[in-house]
Amino acid sequence: MYDQSDDPITITVTNRKGGVGKTATVVNTGAGLAINGKRVLLIDLDPSQASLTVSLIGPMAPESKGIISGFLEDEVTLEDIVYETPTPNLYIAPSEKEYRGKDSFLDMAISGEIGRENFLKELLDCEFAKNFDFILIDTGPELSLLTINALNASDYFIVPTNTDMLSLVGLADTFKIADKVKKLNPKLKSLGSLITKLDLRFKDTAGVSAFLKDQFGQEMFETMISTNSTFRQLPKFQKTIFEMEGKSGKGYKDFLNFSNEIVERVESTMN
Ligand SMILES: Nc1ncnc2c1ncn2[C@@H]1O[C@H](COP(=O)(O)OP(=O)(O)OP(=O)(O)O)[C@@H](O)[C@H]1O
Ligand SMILES: [Mg+2]
Repeated sequence: MYDQSDDPITITVTNRKGGVGKTATVVNTGAGLAINGKRVLLIDLDPSQASLTVSLIGPMAPESKGIISGFLEDEVTLEDIVYETPTPNLYIAPSEKEYRGKDSFLDMAISGEIGRENFLKELLDCEFAKNFDFILIDTGPELSLLTINALNASDYFIVPTNTDMLSLVGLADTFKIADKVKKLNPKLKSLGSLITKLDLRFKDTAGVSAFLKDQFGQEMFETMISTNSTFRQLPKFQKTIFEMEGKSGKGYKDFLNFSNEIVERVESTMN
């Protein structure tokens, strides 16, 4: 068992391919862990879309501080940018969509700085972070300095993937990026890859998911997240799947199983 009073387990959710379900995975895995009594912090490290923020708490008020302020203003601490969500135990460090009245290109803003890969790591290196059992980081699809910041601050990464050809290319690219970041952060490990938006109506889906399980074995999570139109509605209502479906719902079960699998994997890699 890992010591819950100790440092949080930090996990980046990433894939270079867009639209594979990274943000949905962060929201609903976080909620699944929180429902099971874990204290969870979600970090929106995709300020150009801020989808995690919009999905969970709606756009930030202009005067509120989020991750951009946390990166760019020395006096702003993690505690200053963490907000409650409607789900007990689930907290968010949201992202501003605009900063000081303009669209923000956070990766460009930090790109000329010394220690530019360490901004997130430094923000998380504080006593307040120890309030959480898990920190899950949502990243954007492009390979930006922000994704490198996320991986550099993490113990593990998870790659959500769909079963189409371009998602599989994204999966391979993501592993190459993670390998490079391991030079900065040797403790970084893959926790596994997750098939999302599994749609058995497409003829090749069963074949590709079987192929992935065969080729990657243990690397693939046992749980797969099925395509389910409820997920498309979640951001509109700022709800998690656990608030929109009952216990017998497919999405509810998928994400509860997935969060349990995460806890099991983390415990087994730590023993
Ligand atoms: N299991 C699912 N079934 C059906 N739709 C889903 C599922 N998971 C996510 N979606 C929908 O697919 C779209 C993309 O999902 P999401 O935003 O989570 O992907 P992403 O990888 O974070 O995208 P981006 O690369 O743009 O950040 C969204 O409209 C979302 O509601
Ligand atoms: Mg996203």
